[in-house]
Amino acid sequence: MRKRMIAGNWKMNKTYTEGVVLAQELADELAGKTGDVDVVVCPPAVDLKGVGTVIEQKSAPMALGAQNVYWEESGAYTGETAPDMLTNVGCSYCIIGHSERRDYFGETDEDVNKKAKALLAHDIVPISCCGESLEVREAGKHVEFVVDQIRKDTEGLEISDPSRYVIAYEPIWAIGTGKTATADDAQEVCGAIRATLVDVFGEETAAGIRILYGGSAKPDNIAGFLEKEDVDGALVGGASLKADSFAAMVISAAE
Ligand code: 13P
Repeated sequence: MRKRMIAGNWKMNKTYTEGVVLAQELADELAGKTGDVDVVVCPPAVDLKGVGTVIEQKSAPMALGAQNVYWEESGAYTGETAPDMLTNVGCSYCIIGHSERRDYFGETDEDVNKKAKALLAHDIVPISCCGESLEVREAGKHVEFVVDQIRKDTEGLEISDPSRYVIAYEPIWAIGTGKTATADDAQEVCGAIRATLVDVFGEETAAGIRILYGGSAKPDNIAGFLEKEDVDGALVGGASLKADSFAAMVISAAE
């Protein structure tokens, strides 16, 4: 049985001070209410330590995640962050392959694959993103496109504990646009992702990997997605920036 997961991707929002305040509010809103849901918050890199400290001090029922990582251990890679550096500030999750990183910063499937391997080697759970553009969707090639991303992003990965590798399906046309995919749209692609995972890792491992939906997920539409067989939670952007809306989504998932 897969545990549900609600993860908040703060993207490039919240200064250190604002991030600490949001983490405190979340800790208060979520206390005793998360049930059997894994909650993850992914603030900007400079906020990680501050948010991690709040989580620790308040014993908040949420885990800390980063939004990016580099696959090397250390060295002359100006501006980058190594897996060990994430672990050291309390991160146990890391988003990789987000469409914004692919589109604006040239992240490729090969990079995503290297990042996944580095994270798994350091016992950090990758939240590996995939998803098609509007153009691909309108051409009716979305399933094919996402399956191809999954095959490339998972190539050669060794997954010993399937609860420690997460996929997020985020159709690009639904991110930050207010246009959500329908729950059936999400299931169509998440089902195809699951079938691909069976092919890559075998039945048992594939059955334990969580697949999240992302793209204008909000308190009023989350329940519909969670009813679907292959949707195990959500990766939330805009609605994760306010404690009340993010907490409402977690509580809905916990019901
Ligand atoms: P929104 O929820 O703002 O559409 O963002 C989704 C997303 O990209 C999460 O990673």
